[in-house]
Amino acid sequence: MTAPLPGHTASTLHPLHATSLLQVNGLSLEYRSAQRVVRATHQVSFEVDRADRFVLLGPSGCGKSTLLKAVAGFIEPCEGQILLQGQPVKGPGPDRIVVFQEFDQLPPWKTVKQNVMFPLRVSGQLSRAEAQERAMHYLEKVGLAAFADAYPHTLSGGMKARVAIARALATQPQILLMDEPFAALDALTRRKMQEELLRLWEEVRFTLLFVTHSIEEALVVGNRILLLSPHPGRVRAEVHSHQYGMGSLGAGDFQASARRIHRLLFDESGEPEPAAWLDFNDIRIAY
Ligand SMILES: Nc1ncnc2c1ncn2[C@@H]1O[C@H](COP(=O)(O)OP(=O)(O)OP(=O)(O)O)[C@@H](O)[C@H]1O
Ligand SMILES: [Mg+2]
Repeated sequence: MTAPLPGHTASTLHPLHATSLLQVNGLSLEYRSAQRVVRATHQVSFEVDRADRFVLLGPSGCGKSTLLKAVAGFIEPCEGQILLQGQPVKGPGPDRIVVFQEFDQLPPWKTVKQNVMFPLRVSGQLSRAEAQERAMHYLEKVGLAAFADAYPHTLSGGMKARVAIARALATQPQILLMDEPFAALDALTRRKMQEELLRLWEEVRFTLLFVTHSIEEALVVGNRILLLSPHPGRVRAEVHSHQYGMGSLGAGDFQASARRIHRLLFDESGEPEPAAWLDFNDIRIAY
C-alpha cells in the first residue's frame, strides 16, 4: 500500500508495528438516518507514530473530517477499531485535541489568555497560577504574548489561528488533530501559518494528524501523507514527504511529487497528467 516518492527506497518506509501511538485498523464510518445510510469511509487503515506530521489528503467528501472526528471520539466506527497507545478509543478525551477551520470557536467574551487557560482550568489539573504560566508559555511560542489581554474579535484570522493552536498545544495532548485549519485564511497568511506550524513542531515535537485537500499543503506540512479515494474514502496509498518544507515550494522534485500524488489520487487510466499540473503553484485537488 505504501508508495515511496522518488528518491525513497522501500527500506525508508514505515512497517506496520505495534508501538505506534495511533492505530486505525479497517475503519468504516457511516452516518445513519431514518431514510438512508451514508458510508463516509471504507476499511481505512493507517498508523501514526510519535512526532509524526501525518496528513489525510483526499477530495471533498472522501471522509477526512469524519475520520478525524472518529479519532477524536465523536463518532463510533461501524467496522474496525481505533487504538491510542494500544487502548480502544471510546469517546473524546484530553489526550486528543481538535483544531477546526473556524476560529470563531474561541469564546468572544474571554481574552486571548483566558481562552488558552480555559481548558487547562476545566480539566482541574492546574492551579490558576500554573494555568496562567502555561498559557503565557504557549502564547509566547506562537508570538502572541503581547496580545494576551486582547479579545478575539480584535484579532486577524491568522492571529485567531495562532490562539487556537496555542490553546490546543497548552493542553499537551498525545495527538493534535487539525481539520483544514488554514483553509479560511488568505494565501499569504496560510503560507505563513504553515511555516509557523513547522517551526512550532521543531520546538515542541508534538504529534500531528492534519486534514487538507491541498496537495501542496500536504507536502509542506506532512512527513507522511495518506491518500484517500473519493467518496467513500478508501486508502489509495501512503507517501513519504519528510524531505519537503517551505523551502521546497516551486522546486522541480516537489512539483514532480505533487503530480505523482495527483495521479495516485485521480488517475485510474495511467494517462499523462494535464499540462496545467506542470505549472505547479498552489494546486488544490479539483472537485
Ligand atoms: N452529519 C452528516 N450526516 C450525514 N452525512 C454526512 C454528515 N457529515 C458528512 N456526511 C457525509 O459523509 C461523507 C464524508 O464527509 P466528510 O465531511 O468527512 O468529508 P471531507 O473529506 O471532510 O470533505 P471536505 O474536504 O469537503 O471537508 C460525505 O459524503 C458527506 O456528505
Ligand atoms: Mg472536511
